[in-house]
Amino acid sequence: MHTPANPFESDRAFAAYADGALVFDGKKILACGAYATVRKEHPDAELLDHRGAFLLPGFVDTHVHFPQLTIIGSMGLPLLEWLKQRTFPAEAALGGVQAAETAADIFLERLAANGTTAAVVFGSHLFDAQDAFFRKALSSGLRITSGLVLGDQNLIPELETTTERAQEETTELISRYHGAEHIRYAVTPRFSVSCSRPLLELCGELMGGEPGLFFQTHINENIQEVALVRSLFPECRDYFDTYEKYGLAGRHSIFAHNLHVSEGELSRMGACGCSVAHCPSSNAFLGSGAFPMARHLQHGVRFGVGCDVGAGSGFSLLNESLRAYETQMLRDDGYRLSPKHLLYLSGAAGAEVMGLADRIGDFSPGKEADFVLIQPPRSSTLSAVLEQTQSCEAALGALFTLAREESVVATYVAGRRVFSHELD
Ligand code: GUN
Ligand code: ZN
Repeated sequence: MHTPANPFESDRAFAAYADGALVFDGKKILACGAYATVRKEHPDAELLDHRGAFLLPGFVDTHVHFPQLTIIGSMGLPLLEWLKQRTFPAEAALGGVQAAETAADIFLERLAANGTTAAVVFGSHLFDAQDAFFRKALSSGLRITSGLVLGDQNLIPELETTTERAQEETTELISRYHGAEHIRYAVTPRFSVSCSRPLLELCGELMGGEPGLFFQTHINENIQEVALVRSLFPECRDYFDTYEKYGLAGRHSIFAHNLHVSEGELSRMGACGCSVAHCPSSNAFLGSGAFPMARHLQHGVRFGVGCDVGAGSGFSLLNESLRAYETQMLRDDGYRLSPKHLLYLSGAAGAEVMGLADRIGDFSPGKEADFVLIQPPRSSTLSAVLEQTQSCEAALGALFTLAREESVVATYVAGRRVFSHELD
């Protein structure tokens, strides 16, 4: 099953084959269709028989934090208190190279184990930890866009940098990793709350330094946070302006959350072609709010989904897409999503956000073979439901609702297996 077109724009965006096949030549897709047809066209192709499993495009996570795995499930606080009490201390603790390497191995393995093949990752504030993360990301084979997190105020001393150090360390990491295999660099100021004007100005300069760089940060997540930004930047029209003013809003910019956004901001976001990472489980967990999806669509603002671990509830983009669906059901003006929208949001939409839509996101011939195999565990609610489903779209709805990490049996990036799990 895949979405060769955008279901928000086309009625014919969903393609599914009850007995399907995907042919790839080691890296790129040669064909996708009904098994009998495809087999005739490629009689000599080696067969990987996964009858009983569902084949979906690899999931693309547009926002997740590397140093936050250990604080998943840390309940009871809204954003600013959660950051101060739980998050900053946990991130400061992940300092040494060895601890960072171990954490990176676990983090990258969990991404792949959840069927995620590409991710935009908020890194560490600490150079050695971020360097270790990039090293591990490079050998994982996953498509990772990430960067050293920058902040010089309103954090805790262990995480704060200076403009000079930020410049040196970012430049060094860009030169080591940007463009190496599937790795790309994203200039990553944490949020305007933690950045002085000179630091934001530096981010603008860094963005101009090398072609193909990305930019990521947070925006309009929480009412108190938005008020704080207003008081810290009285000269700016709104939160988005604190980034726009420094040249940080463009086609390669990814803004996480964007819940409490004005019409003015949305129309400027649409015009500059930037993207939003929609993180519904995190938004509910921290009580931040409900994403105004219909308004983003009206203004043509691109968005994908992000699990936002550690505020989010795990690495599963199946779960995250279901949460996106539920959030819209709860809003009076909610967009009524269907399973094909969730399929699009979990893969192709993220590929657009990452600037990879020409390479991944669906199974069109010529694209690279990034995919996930999902098999319902025996004696599970999912397998019981799937025995009764009457259509591929109904099966897809059941997958998004019930399939999680335990159902992912293999994950491939560009035709190369990066994760596999034998069912018992
Ligand atoms: N805003 C600034 N930092 C963070 C973070 O780590 N998580 C979330 N959800 N929002 C943030
Ligand atoms: Zn975040």
